Amino acid sequence: MPYLSLKNINKIYPGNVQAVFDFNLDIEEDEFIVLVGPSGCGKSTVLRMIAGLEEISAGDMFLQGKRFNNLAPSDREVAMVFQDYALYGNMTVYQNIGFSLTIRGENTDRIHKRVMEVSKTVDMFDYLNRFPKALSGGQRQRVAMGRSLAKQAKVLLMDEPLSNLDAKLRQQTRIELSALHRNSNTTIVYVTHDQIEAMTLATRIVVMSEGRIQQVGTPYEIYNAPANIFTASFIGMPPINLIRGRVENGQFTGLNKNNEPVFSGMLPQNIVQHCAGYREGGIVMGIRPENMLIMQGSGEVSGSKVSFGAKAESFELLGAEYNVTFNLNGCIMQSRVSAREEIKRGKSYEVIFDTDKAHFFDEKNGSRIQGHSTGVIEC
Ligand SMILES: Nc1ncnc2c1ncn2[C@@H]1O[C@H](COP(=O)(O)OP(=O)(O)OP(=O)(O)O)[C@@H](O)[C@H]1O
Ligand SMILES: [Mg+2]
Repeated sequence: MPYLSLKNINKIYPGNVQAVFDFNLDIEEDEFIVLVGPSGCGKSTVLRMIAGLEEISAGDMFLQGKRFNNLAPSDREVAMVFQDYALYGNMTVYQNIGFSLTIRGENTDRIHKRVMEVSKTVDMFDYLNRFPKALSGGQRQRVAMGRSLAKQAKVLLMDEPLSNLDAKLRQQTRIELSALHRNSNTTIVYVTHDQIEAMTLATRIVVMSEGRIQQVGTPYEIYNAPANIFTASFIGMPPINLIRGRVENGQFTGLNKNNEPVFSGMLPQNIVQHCAGYREGGIVMGIRPENMLIMQGSGEVSGSKVSFGAKAESFELLGAEYNVTFNLNGCIMQSRVSAREEIKRGKSYEVIFDTDKAHFFDEKNGSRIQGHSTGVIEC
């Protein structure tokens, strides 16, 4: 039996706005589930329905086998941390963390014990007598998490809890949050539109678009075997290169906007067998920038390797790496390469990649074409 089970959940807001369509997800105890997707895709709506802050239009929710659709928020054994974590300004860190236990009427010994435990978990033990105004943004965020943890809810819900923090603090708090999950054995459902948070925190990621689940998988699966074009292009920075093309005689030909061929390369056999229907086009190849390499001079190219000369149109130097943009007869591609050699704008380079590292999708419905050799799963 799954710990938390969401079955065919739909949400239609007044005015007939359908925000969530047939959302199905089984969550095990101790999982760290991250819902990720662009703004407006329905992430917060799903979380708010679990919390009981938003009514469910259709579907069922079960916690440890018990249906909880109709329970009041306070009876749901869930705790929620919001983006704008409102702490009580007139209460100390100690009082803020213990607040939910105080209103529950727990005795002071028990509250004290719990505040001691939780404040150590969120690393705020040394600040128990401070007021929120004397804390940094990250410290306040940790108090808010501590307040939710103190409740010992069965599920901890978090809606973009790090988005008010600056980049450095975000990274630090991310690491702390991950450790907190490991140490507290709490089941977490976390919402973000930040793919780095999703990749680094999740045990499983749920990618959403326009109210629908696009893919559920471990960060490794999502990155290495994206189920469709949406997931492939949403996760990965710089984004995956997507090149339209056709497949004939085991060979992929990439096309530019005017449908002119720009390069060709042999495909691995396990892909070719699924490509019979794409002789005239309609297939999209996805190749991640880190798999598009730059060679000095022209090298030996054989098998499933593709190579072409292209001008570096622009680049970004990110310290250890370059993101280089190439324009191959109107086909724009990005390569992520080590910054050991200096890249010059306008200079021609030999670009090389292996079709064995590529992902293939049907252009019409966006789904992954079977038979990939890149990863672990067949979607
Ligand atoms: N109370 C409401 N009434 C009507 N429509 C709503 C309401 N709340 C949200 N929506 C709509 O439902 C859709 C999903 O909203 P939701 O807040 O769940 O998105 P989100 O994925 O959390 O986005 P963001 O990343 O911007 O927070 C959006 O189109 C939004 O406009
Ligand atoms: Mg939201």
